[in-house]
Amino acid sequence: MDYQQFWEKKIIQWELDRYGEITNSTSIERIANRVSISLRFRIEYAEILLKPYLRGMKIIELGCGSGRLAEKLIDNGAKSYIGIDFATNAVEKANSRIERKGLNKKVRFVSSDVIQLSEFDGDIVFSLGLFDWLTPQQIGQIFKSTGSTHHMHSFSEKRVSVSQWIHRVYVHLSYGRHNNGYVPQYYRANYITCIAKKHLNFPLKIIRDRRLSFGAFVTTL
Ligand SMILES: C[S@@+](CC[C@H](N)C(=O)[O-])C[C@H]1O[C@@H](n2cnc3c(N)ncnc32)[C@H](O)[C@@H]1O
Repeated sequence: MDYQQFWEKKIIQWELDRYGEITNSTSIERIANRVSISLRFRIEYAEILLKPYLRGMKIIELGCGSGRLAEKLIDNGAKSYIGIDFATNAVEKANSRIERKGLNKKVRFVSSDVIQLSEFDGDIVFSLGLFDWLTPQQIGQIFKSTGSTHHMHSFSEKRVSVSQWIHRVYVHLSYGRHNNGYVPQYYRANYITCIAKKHLNFPLKIIRDRRLSFGAFVTTL
């Protein structure tokens, strides 16, 4: 299973479906779209959580897709933004948008596997929806490569809930049968904090909100 290829086939449509730009996708995706209003809230909430810490900071987003938050983070005072994603089509789309807007001195998108990077030159490293697709070892690798910076990452919290049950059914129908086990993961909050604590120098918080459904953030901010 080539994960990069999987995302290159998926990410553009996934973003259009999730962020509600078009309607002519398959019916299973439309169901998922309804179920995942929480993902639209997640991106808004990430902006709210980051906003007080942005002034003069170098921001790195891992698994950024086409980097929808980049401009907003710069508008709110960030010094620079680098988005990293191994889906080259999402990175190209993002870079052309940024060039059109004349923001390419402050914003850059790079195509790379985040697990292969040994260090990140930023003050705040964040991700949305990336941890769902990583193993515990890979999550540890990210904290290890960026131990002295601040972090904020969303993850899907393992819980007993109706929405998680519906999500599990959706995952099984849309990926599980033909994806060789490459499916989104749910993690317990204390498991994620244990992994992070091994590498980070800052205290950690878990942020939950009803509108995130079973989503949560682990953050040092
Ligand atoms: C669920 S999508 C989330 C996209 C975006 N962050 C958002 O919230 O709209 C996960 C993203 O992580 C990227 N990704 C997954 N594993 C990666 C890896 N090892 N290195 C770089 N990008 C990765 C995928 O290409 C995809 O764009």
